[in-house]
Amino acid sequence: MQYSYSILGTGSCLPDLAVANQQFSECVDTSDEWIASRTGIRNRYLSAGEETWELGAEAARAAIEMAGVAPEEIDMIIVSTMTADYSTPNMACIIQNALKAVNASCFDINEACTGFIQAFDIAMRYLATSDMRHILVVSAESLSKITDFSDRRVCVLFGDGAGAVVLGKDSTEAGTKPYASFFGADGASGYAIVSEAYPRAKHPFLPKDQLERKPLFAHEGGRFVVMEGQEVYRFATTKMPYAIERVIENAKTTLDSVDYIIPHQANTRILQSAAKRLGIKDDKMISHLAEIGNTSSASIPICLDREVRSGKIKRGHKLVFTGFGGGLTYGALLCEF
Ligand code: ACO
Repeated sequence: MQYSYSILGTGSCLPDLAVANQQFSECVDTSDEWIASRTGIRNRYLSAGEETWELGAEAARAAIEMAGVAPEEIDMIIVSTMTADYSTPNMACIIQNALKAVNASCFDINEACTGFIQAFDIAMRYLATSDMRHILVVSAESLSKITDFSDRRVCVLFGDGAGAVVLGKDSTEAGTKPYASFFGADGASGYAIVSEAYPRAKHPFLPKDQLERKPLFAHEGGRFVVMEGQEVYRFATTKMPYAIERVIENAKTTLDSVDYIIPHQANTRILQSAAKRLGIKDDKMISHLAEIGNTSSASIPICLDREVRSGKIKRGHKLVFTGFGGGLTYGALLCEF
């Protein structure tokens, strides 16, 4: 498919507090060697007091500045997050107010680590089918809010951060670019990544013995994430290459014509396995895992912004974004920078 669009600007924001692997050995039985060899992660940034919306607003400001549009020209703000600061107002409204993007409609989506690409896809469809001209997509996550820092299987993996893009309609001839997407979900495997949203209501109209909630999953940790690591690993190494193949097919193109793949940043071994299955070189897969860890839906736009600002990703480059995570969900999209 050819769409009329342009990725006008990108932005990202990380919290101030850098935490290296060896610092985890002060709170759990682990080591830099274990973490680095199993995941590729050496460092991550955790909130030093920054709220999730503040990270998102900062990333959005940078993207809007690069785009060269005024905040009032933004028609819609879509925020992807699984770690919102409030149930209401939603994060998009909070960020709208921070930016004074007064003409934007605002909503959030929660699709865990697949959230950014889903939000991007929604934005593309609004641009294609409405008179909207500029849509801001923000992914902001504070996984430290839902991390049990006494659980070594999970706490070493996650970091906090935000990334953003401004997408614009571009009706010029040069603005017509390839675009394709593919998404899937496997609700039956939802038990593999679980974090409770709200405790059950304790209203006064129920007898005390009915106040206990009914856990849906065998392993739950309240609001803290519990994960079946190997299950997720198997899912990711199968579904990520599958989603990439499907999106390449939908775009009627070849992997050779793609300049870079920006995958959700979960584990270097997952990225290497996907690269091997697809028969591509590791360096076609962008990775900032070593420095940033897993920031859920923020990981793809953070990588995009870093590589745009470093000059590695240039105008005209064909990119594939691919994600997987809680749900379990997965997907990929192909676009041109
Ligand atoms: N330090 C030291 N030892 C550890 C640690 C740690 N941080 N974590 C687990 N171990 C131990 C386990 O307790 C276990 O010990 P045991 O054999 O005595 O019981 C041993 O290491 C092996 O544990 P496994 O879980 O089998 O380790 P595995 O090789 O599978 O690696 C990992 C775990 C890194 C989590 C891997 O399964 C993985 O990356 N899975 C994918 C996870 C993922 O991608 N999550 C992202 C999606 S969710 C999201 O993005 C929000």
